[in-house]
Amino acid sequence: MSFTVLINSLVAEKAQIACTEKVTVESEHKWLTQHIKSLEQDRSISIIAEVNGEVIASSDMHIQQEGKGIVGIIVKKQFRNLGIGTHMLKVIISQANQRGIKRLKLQVLATNNPAIHTYTKLGFIETQRISKQHFRDGQYIDEIIMERIS
Ligand SMILES: CC(C)(COP(=O)(O)OP(=O)(O)OC[C@H]1O[C@@H](n2cnc3c(N)ncnc32)[C@H](O)[C@@H]1OP(=O)(O)O)[C@@H](O)C(=O)NCCC(=O)NCCS
Repeated sequence: MSFTVLINSLVAEKAQIACTEKVTVESEHKWLTQHIKSLEQDRSISIIAEVNGEVIASSDMHIQQEGKGIVGIIVKKQFRNLGIGTHMLKVIISQANQRGIKRLKLQVLATNNPAIHTYTKLGFIETQRISKQHFRDGQYIDEIIMERIS
């Protein structure tokens, strides 16, 4: 439930994330069921940050192929630029490394400067650019693939 509230707050502010439609409690249930299965199979790492019982940030890593993980992160608007995103990503990178996952990948919209700054600071580099992959508010936006190798 709390994750739905978090993701829907980002959809409402038109954050530069892949999800543009509000999620329902039913879709969260479906997602959580798959996510828990993946965690039990040791194929994912998931961390959240809570303030007074409210989920204000979430980051995860899912093993895409053996030795390769795909990373995601969201922080609620009011809690950005406080170092939370950087800290959570450092934990994800360290936990992934401890499990032998040295190659991490993520996708980001080319206009998402705070995210690109944060990822670059943590050693991710652009490895691919998909031209005009997204269409938002009448504008095409490239998608950038960034990767980090430990
Ligand atoms: C990307 C995101 C996770 C970063 O989380 P955060 O908690 O704000 O991250 P931090 O506070 O640790 O660091 C933010 C960095 O971005 C920088 N920054 C802020 N606005 C910026 C801008 N417009 N351009 C470039 N850098 C910017 C900050 O100065 C800071 O860098 P610094 O530590 O070198 O000073 C957060 O902005 C977010 O959730 N955005 C919406 C969802 C999203 O875009 N997720 C990623 C999808 S790929």
